[in-house]
Amino acid sequence: MHPVRARIVGTGSYLPQTIRTNHDIEKMVDTSHEWIVARSGISERRIAAENELTSDIAYAAARKALDMAGIEPSEVDMIMVATVTPDMLFPPTACILQHKLGIGGCAAFDLNAVCSGFLYGLAIADGFIRGGNAKNILVIGAEILSRIVNWQDRTTCVLFGDGAGAVVLRADNDSDRGILSSHLHADGQYGPLLRIPAGGSAMPTTHQSVDDQLHYISMQGNEIFKVAVRCLTEVALEALRYNHVNQDELKFFIPHQANMRIIKAVASRIGLPPEKVYTNVHKYGNTSSASIPIALDEVNRKGLLHPHDLLLFDTFGGGLTWGAMLARW
Ligand code: COA
Repeated sequence: MHPVRARIVGTGSYLPQTIRTNHDIEKMVDTSHEWIVARSGISERRIAAENELTSDIAYAAARKALDMAGIEPSEVDMIMVATVTPDMLFPPTACILQHKLGIGGCAAFDLNAVCSGFLYGLAIADGFIRGGNAKNILVIGAEILSRIVNWQDRTTCVLFGDGAGAVVLRADNDSDRGILSSHLHADGQYGPLLRIPAGGSAMPTTHQSVDDQLHYISMQGNEIFKVAVRCLTEVALEALRYNHVNQDELKFFIPHQANMRIIKAVASRIGLPPEKVYTNVHKYGNTSSASIPIALDEVNRKGLLHPHDLLLFDTFGGGLTWGAMLARW
């Protein structure tokens, strides 16, 4: 008998069909495919259809994860949706999703830790499962960032994309598989580096705030870059040290997909060879809280994972928030 752990038993993802390439964006703002690839590694991103909601893409990813896990929605004890682009401020997108899944009664709420939201959600779910308070938990990262990006601002619009990823966590005491440890951090002094100034209680939406374009993402990219590399590196090493795990023992490092240069800088500081680093940022851009579960689902569905493989997740986002998690597949 092993201690109860939260094991990932299903993964799913959904990417909207429409592809917006760098060449498409060249026609919208003063930029070039070469600049975007050189500075971020991104070639294209997905854009949700006009009638697609965050709850719809969350649903598509969740359905696939539930199917893989082989469980019915009625068996889910809790639904968490990590997002900064909820369908509306409230009710929570998780509750809208719960209804779309045809169930009611279980706990359902949204979580905002910006791009780190998914790992924060997994860590919370892990706590509930280890504490014996839940058996099956659905954690989703879903974002339609194309609706909060200013498509006239070349410093941000080239970076972001839409998508959703989901996992089903199940209580397991039959093996040593599951989440081993979570390491979450935040530092609010850096909040102004990445934010949407208007639309909250500090600056309710007015004609003026819309005219001033304050309801879009505003970002100081090069400042974030430096903090991101430092924090992602430190917290990844923290997770490895905590578990007495060596870099060589990892099967995959699955970082938040924000920028290829950030990922490469962090991987080299941790001492990881490229073949252990999973990236898809070239195809999808930065999908915020959806990026890690989309990447995990890709790795999983490609058949690259075997029982007991060690996976290191590493994330970073607005807040600023960051965190790492070690899991045994
Ligand atoms: N196309 C062409 N030129 C652009 C451009 C674009 N899309 N965006 C900015 N530029 C220009 C700038 O105006 C600047 O011009 P200047 O030197 O004449 O002032 C020049 O390119 C360099 O800008 P800078 O911001 O210093 O570039 P950078 O090397 O830092 O790369 C980012 C910019 C945004 C790609 C990079 O800083 C980054 O990725 N940061 C992290 C952002 C992030 O990941 N945020 C989400 C965290 S979860």
